Amino acid sequence: MTLILGLETSCDETAAAVVRDGCEVLSSVVASQHALHERYRGVVPEIASRAHLEKLSPVVGQALEEAGVKLSDVHAIAVGNRPGLIGSLLVGVSAAQALAWAASKPLIGIDHVQAHLHAAALYRADDPPTAVASLPFPALGLVVSGGHTSLYEMRSPTELRLLGRTIDDAVGEAYDKAAVIVGAGYPGGPRLDRLAQRGDARAYELPRSLLDKQSLDFSFSGLKTALLYTVRGQPQGRGRAAQFERSADDLTEAQRADLAASFQAAAIDSLIIKVERAIEQLAEEGRRPRSLIVGGGVSANSLLRKRAAEVAEKHELQLGLPAMEFCVDNAAMIAGLAHEHYEAQRFSPLDLPAIATTSR
Ligand code: KG4
Ligand code: ZN
Repeated sequence: MTLILGLETSCDETAAAVVRDGCEVLSSVVASQHALHERYRGVVPEIASRAHLEKLSPVVGQALEEAGVKLSDVHAIAVGNRPGLIGSLLVGVSAAQALAWAASKPLIGIDHVQAHLHAAALYRADDPPTAVASLPFPALGLVVSGGHTSLYEMRSPTELRLLGRTIDDAVGEAYDKAAVIVGAGYPGGPRLDRLAQRGDARAYELPRSLLDKQSLDFSFSGLKTALLYTVRGQPQGRGRAAQFERSADDLTEAQRADLAASFQAAAIDSLIIKVERAIEQLAEEGRRPRSLIVGGGVSANSLLRKRAAEVAEKHELQLGLPAMEFCVDNAAMIAGLAHEHYEAQRFSPLDLPAIATTSR
């Protein structure tokens, strides 16, 4: 039996968790900073790193307490050390280094994006998985978050090959911006999802950017601009000086819901089309995936969950969708994926760096 303490501070959630044997979550504490960033309608990096500094120590204490373990009981300390906001990452990485050194435990640096694809394997002891406990590999992995929109061919949970990524905005970012455009509030993704459920997805025609036929890349900036022009009309002038015909305040509640539903249909369609294209391309190359694994904040989206289930059934793939609490940033996914590295005795040096960008 292996217990791993995980830390996560890559963006605006300060999180710590204790996970047993890679999948059973004994505790997962997430302190959200939403209230601090709400008035700016986005994450302010300096505010985020300062808040991590204040919150991390109590959050780690709470995670150990809720799991009923002491620091000396855990077998390793894992931390999300890439990619993310550099100031935010540094807080978690420094804390993990200090804990590992002080308690003489191995340190394991984890790629945040890879960890999102482990979230589907996590469960609480009082909510164990019913059907299959582990997803078969090779798998097709789709990471959809505020910072990433990427498709991977996965030979195992730690062996990923990038098949395609967004060439502009991430889908979560597009959701957050769309929420501002239609006046849905912050945090944008969940608010827009809820609003969309009351609207008609055929009310407005918005583009699905497919790029060229073979491409597995994504693009969301055209959809965002199309939504903006639909709401406010064609602008006169460019950039900050642009004058629009209308304002979002002119929308009725019904129009707001229809716009949200039309945006949601276009955004999720763009994802699903590429997922199906990837399955077909891999099958043609004789490397058919056995599972479809989805992770990241947007995997909480109601329409994406429904459409992913349909695709998995159609192509006879096992579906890996995270429980709702593990879709958005959390430390259980960090501690869980670290188990794979622990088993392989792949440890990080105590001077593990924080890295803002990803190599994938
Ligand atoms: O994974 P995550 O917590 O952070 C990053 O690593 O970026 O993802 C956050 C993103 C935000 O853009 C948020 O708006 C989006 O996930 N999100 C959603 C939903 N819940 C969260 N987007 C669409 N529908 C949702 N239900
Ligand atoms: Zn994330």
